[in-house]
Amino acid sequence: MQMDPWSTRTIDYEKLFTDFGIDRIGKLDEILSGNPLFRRGIIFGHRDFYQWWNDFRNGKKVSILTGMMPSGPFHLGHKMVVDQLVFYQNLGIPITLAIADVEARTVRKKTPDEIREITVNYLTNYFALGLDPKKTDVYMQTSRSVPYYRLASLMAGKVTFAEMEAIYGTLSPGKIASALIQAADILHKQLDGYEGKHRILVPVGPDQDPHIRLARDLAERIGLIKPSSTYHIFMKGLDGQKMSSSKPNSYISLDEPIEDALRKVKNALTGGRISLEEQKKLGGEPDKCMIFSLYLYHFELSDEELDNRRRMCESGKLICGDCKKELLDRIEKWLVDIHAKKVKYRPIAEKMVDEMMDYPF
Ligand code: TRP
Repeated sequence: MQMDPWSTRTIDYEKLFTDFGIDRIGKLDEILSGNPLFRRGIIFGHRDFYQWWNDFRNGKKVSILTGMMPSGPFHLGHKMVVDQLVFYQNLGIPITLAIADVEARTVRKKTPDEIREITVNYLTNYFALGLDPKKTDVYMQTSRSVPYYRLASLMAGKVTFAEMEAIYGTLSPGKIASALIQAADILHKQLDGYEGKHRILVPVGPDQDPHIRLARDLAERIGLIKPSSTYHIFMKGLDGQKMSSSKPNSYISLDEPIEDALRKVKNALTGGRISLEEQKKLGGEPDKCMIFSLYLYHFELSDEELDNRRRMCESGKLICGDCKKELLDRIEKWLVDIHAKKVKYRPIAEKMVDEMMDYPF
């Protein structure tokens, strides 16, 4: 059973539990249930999450590390990880963010100019969404320090080609380099040259689980604590299909003109019936509706309001036009605010990237 994080396939969530050994998120304490992503089951699975969380609750040292590959526009799908980082940062947990430029260059064949532009844009969005640039350790894979590279290269001797093929399927030199450097991302903070041994949580999408499995195996072989992870459900695209950077109409971007974003929402797939009459009789279908899922994932933080909206829809009292109109208003307000914040944060992101980017070719 392989799962290739670089090929875009749809995720079979059930298999993650049965074949890959991901555990379901279980009990939520009062802090975790304060977060809608946990409460609504959007963060659905994990590996050793509760060990990490208990260490945190017991006052032991813990931290968070995640990464992002600079490729494509920044959309609401990316926001889900940022929301999690902000949640943990507000609890006082140290956050490290790796920019996967090795992966972008070797696997996605992005040029240095593209990487600069996309990284500046991603970081600008991360900060506009509430991540504090002063409290986040941001680095690029090509510009970390010596112990990190020692770890990345020496781990090549701790795994066989067959094991890597079993995890990833077909490999290339670029993929092997990216996988080992991502394992170094996940593990290096436990080295003495950084923070020393402690539990680290890696919040990611389920497509990244192969990297988590490799890093956990390697951790055991080199005497580090196995990293913990959580996985969130990928929000569907506005058309009800897979959300994909190659289909601009499937996502709302935080980079595009607000009118464009709103037009896409207007055209999104709803759970409405063929006629108003039918809808009043049968009610709408919120679980098939992308407007409802936008409320669910991003734009309605109150469970009570969300339940109310579901009931009103299912009973045929709330019609799609009104429901959409309310969402459009919310999204417009929100985007105006985000765009203003982006103007403020862009110079900070530019400075960060300029200080990190240094390619020999
Ligand atoms: N591979 C990840 C992506 O495609 C980016 C990444 C690099 C990452 N290093 C990481 C994710 C470490 C989590 C942890 O976006």
